Amino acid sequence: MSKLRIMSVFGTRPEAIKMCPLVRELASRTDIESLCCVTAQHRQMLDSVLNVFGIKPDWDLNIMTPRQTLSDITSKCLLGMDDAISALKPDMILVHGDTSTTFAGALSAFYHQVAVGHVEAGLRTYDKYSPFPEEMNRVLTSGISDMHFCPTVGNRENLLREGRTENIFVTGNTVIDALKTTVKKNHFFSTEELNDLPYQKKKVILVTCHRRENYGEPMKNIMQALRQIAEEHPDVELVYPVHLSPVVREAADRYLRGAPRVHLIDPLPADEMHNLIDRCYMVLTDSGGLQEEAPALGKPVLVLRRETERPEAVAAGTAKLAGVIQDDIVTMAKRLIMDKHAYEKMAHAVNPYGDGNACRRIADAIEWRYGLRPERPSDYEA
Ligand code: UD1
Ligand code: UDP
Repeated sequence: MSKLRIMSVFGTRPEAIKMCPLVRELASRTDIESLCCVTAQHRQMLDSVLNVFGIKPDWDLNIMTPRQTLSDITSKCLLGMDDAISALKPDMILVHGDTSTTFAGALSAFYHQVAVGHVEAGLRTYDKYSPFPEEMNRVLTSGISDMHFCPTVGNRENLLREGRTENIFVTGNTVIDALKTTVKKNHFFSTEELNDLPYQKKKVILVTCHRRENYGEPMKNIMQALRQIAEEHPDVELVYPVHLSPVVREAADRYLRGAPRVHLIDPLPADEMHNLIDRCYMVLTDSGGLQEEAPALGKPVLVLRRETERPEAVAAGTAKLAGVIQDDIVTMAKRLIMDKHAYEKMAHAVNPYGDGNACRRIADAIEWRYGLRPERPSDYEA
């Protein structure tokens, strides 16, 4: 009997980190042919993740261009996916999350009448422009998808409220599966400056900031806040692996270069980043993935955004919305730096996002849908 052909499609760093463990899980199943198609919406940052997880794509659209627009990404993905689908003939396409690759991958599958499974489904802010364009990418992808793999019960509730009642599986987030393979207590950093940081003597704060809705004034406010935090606290070292987007790099150069105790470094390989989260004092970020990883590793997170589609960590007390106003960010960071009690209250490991078995549940659910497994997998409950 021929194997079920499941093609995972992804293109950016976070999708890759969260999909590589699933590509591997699917490859371990005897009845599944696990295919991997990358759009390379990100080039270097994607290749770095593929390298960490040892994945060699079957198809590479290689679409990235400097300062690409949303229309550039979407149109190139759509055209490239025609060839990939015709050549690899998948029975089902898996997309992840909320990027332009996600939406274009799902739309292309629909045009070819191929079933779609959406990994990390059901996250919502209900604000069309925030995060932009991710919120609409999620909604549109849900509309096309045949199977919805939700990280949390709350994500499932969002889909139910929208009238989507079929084929919803609560699996946990595959990022927790990834962390299980990357974080090691005795990890030795290959990035030299990370080994030299004074993790015991000082407070090493990990920072990232890259979102499109923060471009311009909000990003300027955030970076000025970071500079002020470093200037006012000699016992703090800020480490900021700067995203390769030229917009972000220009802002970091302009507002942070030369500031005392601020380390602007290149993007880190995923395993280095995950171990840095494990070792740091706390995290300031507008990233989605870091909002899931830091709580799992017991690190307080200040979210540099006005809203979040990941309310679980806020409810659990390990994340707080700091917004994008300079004074607010400085005040909230100062509290966690100076007030040991406030810090300890947030610094406990909670893991509303999964138990590290999300990939197994997703693969089981796919096998069940295609009649290769008698029982529907049981849902993950935090
Ligand atoms: C994209 C996603 C965003 C996700 C983020 C993760 C969209 C619209 N946005 O945003 O949801 O949070 O990835 O990081 O899908 N670049 C490089 N090398 C790389 C990667 C990027 O040079 O390896 C530069 C290129 O000039 C590129 C620019 O960064 O044009 C922006 O990349 P793009 O994928 O368009 O947007 P991101 O902000 O990375
Ligand atoms: N990450 C990484 N190296 C870095 C910065 C981030 O490996 O230098 C990882 C991070 O640990 C998380 C993912 O990239 O797993 C988040 O990606 P990003 O912030 O680019 O996107 P988002 O999650 O906001 O969509």
